[in-house]
Amino acid sequence: MISLPSRTLGRILTPPSLVGFMVSLAEAPKGGKILEPAAAHAPFLRAFREAHGSGYRFHALEVDPLAFDPPPWAEAHLADFLLWEPNETFHLILGNPPYGALGAGVRLDPERRRLYRRRFTTWHGRYNLYGAFLEKGVRLLKPGGVLLYVVPAGWMVLEEFQKLRTFLAREGALEVFYLGRAFPGLKVRATVLRFRKGGKGLRLYEAQALREGDPPRLLLETPYWQGEMVRFPHEEAMALEREGIPLEEAFRIHFAARSPEVRAHPLTRPHPGPGLVPVLTGRNLLPGEVDYETPHSGLYFPKEAAYLLKPFYIIPHLVVGSTRHYRVVAAWDGRAYPWREEFHLLPKEGVRLDPEALVAYLNDPQIQAYYRGLYREVVPHLTRPMLERLPLPKELVSVR
Ligand SMILES: C[S@@+](CC[C@H](N)C(=O)[O-])C[C@H]1O[C@@H](n2cnc3c(N)ncnc32)[C@H](O)[C@@H]1O
Repeated sequence: MISLPSRTLGRILTPPSLVGFMVSLAEAPKGGKILEPAAAHAPFLRAFREAHGSGYRFHALEVDPLAFDPPPWAEAHLADFLLWEPNETFHLILGNPPYGALGAGVRLDPERRRLYRRRFTTWHGRYNLYGAFLEKGVRLLKPGGVLLYVVPAGWMVLEEFQKLRTFLAREGALEVFYLGRAFPGLKVRATVLRFRKGGKGLRLYEAQALREGDPPRLLLETPYWQGEMVRFPHEEAMALEREGIPLEEAFRIHFAARSPEVRAHPLTRPHPGPGLVPVLTGRNLLPGEVDYETPHSGLYFPKEAAYLLKPFYIIPHLVVGSTRHYRVVAAWDGRAYPWREEFHLLPKEGVRLDPEALVAYLNDPQIQAYYRGLYREVVPHLTRPMLERLPLPKELVSVR
């Protein structure tokens, strides 16, 4: 098999044990039609045939002629799956689609991107190839048909997959197997999705110990799932949410001025000077403390004019990290500096709070346990919806 540069078309080889696990979840009626999109050498079709025999109609599809090596007993389709319009539907669609946010890892000509955007109702922002592969797969299933993919876990919580989650909830029943780090050498946390067209509800399974031979364990069953964020059940975390005030009730959440905005501002300087202070980045935010000295951004701005970047920079306020790798990190910016990153939280009208106690609470191990308990390592950053729901104890914040 010829291997391609991995960043070009989202090529990641599926470990054979993972193919085996997914094939053990697969089902199709005898004589049924089975499709592996993004097939390359079609490892899923080969494993399925090995396990269940040859009495099916196998189809392999791949966009890259150099990567395509279909078995002789499968009907081969050299095509872009996302634009492919066959005159048939399938009983089973399984495989490992390409991953990658368009524009980041994946380069596409603008015309193709426009075509994708127009074709997929779940498309959101830059989106991600695997989101489009999911929608396309669901559309090509027969009623009662099964879709089985391994994809990154980000869709469970990220806002750009909200439309996709709603779509999946509307179209059928979804089982999610959380695998954690399933691809050796890659940071991505993975999930296997088994979707049945026409059913209802969500089931979440723990499947991190598959390699040690432990079978998946059911963690959560939500019969009326409508596409909400998929969070892990966690007793202590749920208790904190029941007792506390959701952060969004007490605070308005802003994001810092973006890097290009700061860079392009006429008052921004690349050197220190009178009246200038460093523009702070995430690296200046430490648990309980702001490092006002180190110029990590390499940029300086007049402190007195910081409000020109964002009006709220003039007010001392709470800063919470957005990309701190599975941790909540917070500090009080008492000096009201200009920033280029992170969440900036301003109390809403009538809210009274004790900044020091609040900062200590947000950096406390109890909050780390809350965050890890509900979101594990699904994505390395704290997203706005996660922050909005974070519970604040009533002793620390009062909302009139
Ligand atoms: C993650 S690899 C999976 C390879 C193989 N199925 C496996 O599990 O080892 C993704 C494959 O998708 C192919 N691919 C990328 N974009 C595609 C598209 N739009 N349509 C069809 N195949 C595509 C790539 O060429 C690559 O072979």
